[in-house]
Order: sequence, then C-alpha cells, then structure tokens
Amino acid sequence: TMATQDELKKQVGYKAIDDYVTSGMKVGLGTGSTAAFAVERLGELMAAGTLTDIIAVPTSVRTKEQAESLGIPLTTLDEFSSLDVAIDGADEVDPQLNLVKGGGGALLREKMVEIVADKFIVIVDESKLCDALGPGFPIPVEITPFCHEHTKRVVEALPALAGKCKAVLRLGSSTNNQVDGDEPAVTDNGNYILDLNFDEPLTDAPAAAAQLKATCGVVDHGLFIGMTTAVIIAGSDGISVKEP
Ligand code: A5P
Repeated sequence: TMATQDELKKQVGYKAIDDYVTSGMKVGLGTGSTAAFAVERLGELMAAGTLTDIIAVPTSVRTKEQAESLGIPLTTLDEFSSLDVAIDGADEVDPQLNLVKGGGGALLREKMVEIVADKFIVIVDESKLCDALGPGFPIPVEITPFCHEHTKRVVEALPALAGKCKAVLRLGSSTNNQVDGDEPAVTDNGNYILDLNFDEPLTDAPAAAAQLKATCGVVDHGLFIGMTTAVIIAGSDGISVKEP
C-alpha cells in the first residue's frame, strides 16, 4: 500500500535525527509538519537514553513548545553562535537545492538558526521538489508593519521581480499560507508577511534574494540560497539523499 504524505514526512524526520545527530551535539530544530517528526524522534531517543547531552535551539514558538513538552533542553543563539546541525522542512526545493521556506511564517528564526549550523539538513516528501522556484509556492517575505503597503510596492518594483510577481499581505494565522482571517498575520517577531505570487519561474533567485534583503522595511525573505548541506527526500520509491 502507498505511504501517506504524513508517513513520508515521518520517515525523513526520523532519518535526519538517526543519521545526523549524535550525543553532545547542539541542534537547530525547524518548524512545520515535517520538522515536528524530527523533534518527536529527538525527544524519543533522548528519553530512551540513546542520545545524551543534547541542547537544541528552536526556530519558532510552536517548535519551542513541542520540544519543551518532550523534555528537550533548549537554548538560544545568544548562548551559542554556532550549531552542529539544523534540521528543517521546506516548501520548495529546486535542482540546486535552493529552497523556499516560510509557508509556516517562521522564516526569520529559521534562517538565523540554520545559517549558523555546520550542517543544514532539509527533510521533504517528493511533492516539494520543483524545476524552478516561483510558480509552485508563493515566496514569503517578512516585513515591518510600519508602512507595509509602501514596502509592498517597493518589493513589487524590484528589478528582479518587476512585472513578474504579485505581493499579497498574509492575513489570518501566520502558521499557514491560507487566507483565513481579516487581520494581517503576525509572526513570532511581531512582523507581517508578504507572499510573492509568481506565474513564471524565478530565473535569478540569488538576485531576487539580494534585492529583497537590501530593501528597507524587509526583515528577511524565504529564499534560502546555498545553505543546504543535504536534502532527504521520501517518495513512493523510498528514501533518497541529495547533496549540492
Ligand atoms: C515554516 O515557516 C516553513 O519554512 C516550513 O519549514 C515549511 O513551510 C515546511 O512545512 P511542512 O513541513 O509543514 O510542509
């Protein structure tokens, strides 16, 4: 029988902990339904005594709460500026293993934590693989609430984006990208999110990333370029690992 998408997420979440985490490590914990399985596995192996002396940095309030409920000791980047490994899901993965993240609204803390990890392990089911970033999943951009309509216009006019995307202020819960409320979604950092909707592939994702990052009013964006150490992919044919 075919594995459900949840079973595929569980397979890669468990494999990332089993293959990349050893006792004594400092571990970055991602956010989302796939990362939650990795957190679950970490808690299980720590409770069993298989993994010891682990300390973890969560990438969202949600992940912090899950890790706390499992008794996983937590810290922040204020205490340790480097990590051995970080494990997280993604919304899209391109052939170069560049990512779109932030469908769950946690992109800023995810990027801060994952960029300082010696290894950044991405865990996905095969539905997340794409030929090019852009059309398959809106690219989230975290912006300050201050003059957010202005920032939206500035972002839409960036040279790498002009005429190619429509920016939509995320409403409702920031924990998914569904519009399910009338008020702007607010991130863990008190900011808003623009979702950039593309009809065509983003031909130069690094340029778009650089221009977004250089925009006043933009805090960060969900393009994770050149950060991936390995992607663990679960599909109908089993599990595979890709490295850049
Ligand atoms: C959270 O902000 C996101 O970056 C998630 O990592 C991403 O949305 C993947 O989530 P799922 O594993 O639930 O698809």
